Amino acid sequence: MRIPGLIDPHVHMREPGGEHKEDWSTGTASALAGGVTMVLAMPNTKPPVTDRKTLEATLSLAGSKARCDFAQFIGAGAGNRETAASLAPHTAGLKMYLDSTYGDLKLDNMEDWFIHFQNWPASSPLCVHAEGPSLAAAILLAEVTNRPVHLCHISLRSEIMLIRAAKARGIPVTCEVSPHHLFLNCDDIPSISPGRSEVRPRLASRDDVQALWDNLDCIDCFATDHAPHTPGEKDSDNPPPGFPGLESALPLYLTAMSQGRLTLDDILARCVINPRHIFHLPEQPDTFVEIDPAARWTFDAAKSHTRSGWSPFDGFTLTGRIESVTLRGKVVYKNGEILAEPGSGHNIRSELK
Ligand code: DOR
Ligand code: ZN
Ligand code: ZN
Repeated sequence: MRIPGLIDPHVHMREPGGEHKEDWSTGTASALAGGVTMVLAMPNTKPPVTDRKTLEATLSLAGSKARCDFAQFIGAGAGNRETAASLAPHTAGLKMYLDSTYGDLKLDNMEDWFIHFQNWPASSPLCVHAEGPSLAAAILLAEVTNRPVHLCHISLRSEIMLIRAAKARGIPVTCEVSPHHLFLNCDDIPSISPGRSEVRPRLASRDDVQALWDNLDCIDCFATDHAPHTPGEKDSDNPPPGFPGLESALPLYLTAMSQGRLTLDDILARCVINPRHIFHLPEQPDTFVEIDPAARWTFDAAKSHTRSGWSPFDGFTLTGRIESVTLRGKVVYKNGEILAEPGSGHNIRSELK
């Protein structure tokens, strides 16, 4: 069966500064192995992407190493609320961190939140990491500034209820859910191990997970939040939050399809059509994924292409497998092998300079 190449609007490529976890070459290889032909990369690198210089440096690395198409978010900081907007055409959008997570981009000052919401062009995406009460703040800011806002990786019943109410009032918010918040819950923490289970937002209760499934019509996108860290880091005394997700996501969705929990249209709406619309992304000609929706197999993290080398889904039995991926007419992945060269991916935004 042939489906379009997937778009993942939320990945962490780690380069520059975290190349031992992932780089543009391994991260985009992982994307292709997961049927993802376009990624939008988050700015919480080292240094973070917050200005022309850091954006240029990251785009130059991506341009020479990426194997799938890409765009790069810029991070909202206290120091760039007047200047970030001029870079909008060259970015995937603006990313704002209203809560603590990996990296140093958390914005504490509500005035910074408000000015960024006002200044970032309404024609360019604005994404927020906002959990619980800060999600309510982000929705209010979307309303008072009357601009579209995309709510990243929502995970709680209270959040999806609030988003339903906001959408019903016509507030211009969209949202995404990550596969780990659909297919894992906090009862899985002992078997994954406490350190490896660390993720932001945290794995939620069974009731929260059920609420996401019950309100699928309010969920615009599936996004992996692919956040690679090494097994050594995850097993340390201070485990960083995050899971790799690019290679397990589509097989998990196809498994849910085999169980009657998702339709193919549900998947394609959230992995292709809605992200293309929300993030203003171009179509990719002659780009498709061949899948065997009936193949049963066991996910083996040791065979994955991400440098992080582990997965919370290791050993899961899945129904639905990716056989090959074609990007712009060229076979870029087949039977477990990456055939795309580093640098063959395109920046889908306008070039800087
Ligand atoms: O678990 C997470 N890891 N959540 C985030 O928001 C950031 C991410 C990371 O960059 O590791
Ligand atoms: Zn986040
Ligand atoms: Zn993230």
